[in-house]
Amino acid sequence: MMRMPAALILAAGRGERMNSDVPKVLHEAAGVPLLEHVISTVREAGIQRIYVVVGRNASKVRSLLTLNGVKTVVQKQQLGTGHAVLQAERALKDHSGDLLVLPADAPCLRAETVREFIRSHRNRRVRASILTALTNHSKGYGRILRRSGQIQGIREELEASPAERDVAEINSGIYLFDTKLLFRKLREVKRNPRKKERYLTDVIEVLVHSGNRVRAHRVRNGQEVLGVNTRSQLSMAHQIIGQRELERHSRNGVTIQNPSQTFVAKGVRIGRDTIIFPFTWIGPGVVIGRNCEIGPFAKLKARVRVGNGVTVGSFVELVRSEIGERTCIKHLSYLGDTKVGRKVNIGAGTITANFDGKRKHRTVIQDGALIGSNTVLVAPVTIGRKAKTGAGAVVVARHPVPSGKTVVGVPARIMTTKKRGSKG
Ligand code: UD1
Ligand code: CA
Repeated sequence: MMRMPAALILAAGRGERMNSDVPKVLHEAAGVPLLEHVISTVREAGIQRIYVVVGRNASKVRSLLTLNGVKTVVQKQQLGTGHAVLQAERALKDHSGDLLVLPADAPCLRAETVREFIRSHRNRRVRASILTALTNHSKGYGRILRRSGQIQGIREELEASPAERDVAEINSGIYLFDTKLLFRKLREVKRNPRKKERYLTDVIEVLVHSGNRVRAHRVRNGQEVLGVNTRSQLSMAHQIIGQRELERHSRNGVTIQNPSQTFVAKGVRIGRDTIIFPFTWIGPGVVIGRNCEIGPFAKLKARVRVGNGVTVGSFVELVRSEIGERTCIKHLSYLGDTKVGRKVNIGAGTITANFDGKRKHRTVIQDGALIGSNTVLVAPVTIGRKAKTGAGAVVVARHPVPSGKTVVGVPARIMTTKKRGSKG
């Protein structure tokens, strides 16, 4: 067994083309920050040793990294991709194998491709490989320069001649290098005279000139190496990853009635024979059981768990809630911070008032309860087993409804059934 490469993800760039106050790598595609996509791809490919180069003031980026358990390297000034890599020299001093270098703005890359790239790099016994793509949309990418088929270097668009611009093979910004050789040669790379930056791409020419062969591994689908520099590329990444997720669910036995009108965040779990109707939005971390009907026009946000056989119908919004088996929430409801039991029926227009202006509170609706249309449940509150609320009831906070009882009115009171004719 050969040693797995270490990975170095470059995430210190300013991301100016996003025109944003948020660091570029924290922008989300399919509900997940760009940087996190790259980290999980690298990890899924089997690489354990991962470093991320970040800027000096990137506290939010750093907290994401802590969360993901990867190490950081700081690049104080953004002096280019080559300079960024050099900042990791110390951290990688004891690493003698290969180094996979990737930009943090390539969220569509798949782990399978990373594995193939590593395999082809090893099979060819070279010390540097570039992941490339053939595309009609080469704008903004570095072009691969070849002579008699052999790679000579990479030309950035700004520096490219018209003929070089016509080259259809682009640089993905993803490379494999012999670690020691890379750092040695990077020091020979001069700053680009125009941008005053040290380009990582220029190391290829330095390598070739010193007699090292550089090989390309081409991805079959250029979409995979899309670099997100602009908001419109962010939308593209969102679509590509979103569609890929929908295909995965389809293969698992989920019906997605109209994929182009459905959003499911990356990593959502959906059971077999569930149907997702159009205009449905399912956010990150949501888990849905088997045989459910979701939508049309449903919104399931963070930390929602839906059991088997549940209906979540039109204009229903759920957040941080758990829904028990065979419960129906068919129309026009909002449930936040709510635990709903099994076989509950939530009438149209039911709303949990879960926010008092300062804090969110929980609502519990136990098995078999029947919530009448237009009920407002002011949290914190519990509706007992098989309890009922009348249409339009406002159940006030801290007034639990006992099991089997019915409450009606505003504020809701327990209804006592009197026999007709009997005296009070
Ligand atoms: C880069 C490549 C280009 C390639 C494209 C693929 C260079 C010079 N160009 O261009 O050939 O086709 O990616 O998408 O490498 N970064 C730092 N520190 C810096 C500068 C950048 O960490 O000082 C990081 C950025 O956060 C980003 C990555 O490096 O994640 C790439 O930088 P970016 O400015 O996006 O490069 P491109 O112009 O896209
Ligand atoms: Ca880029």
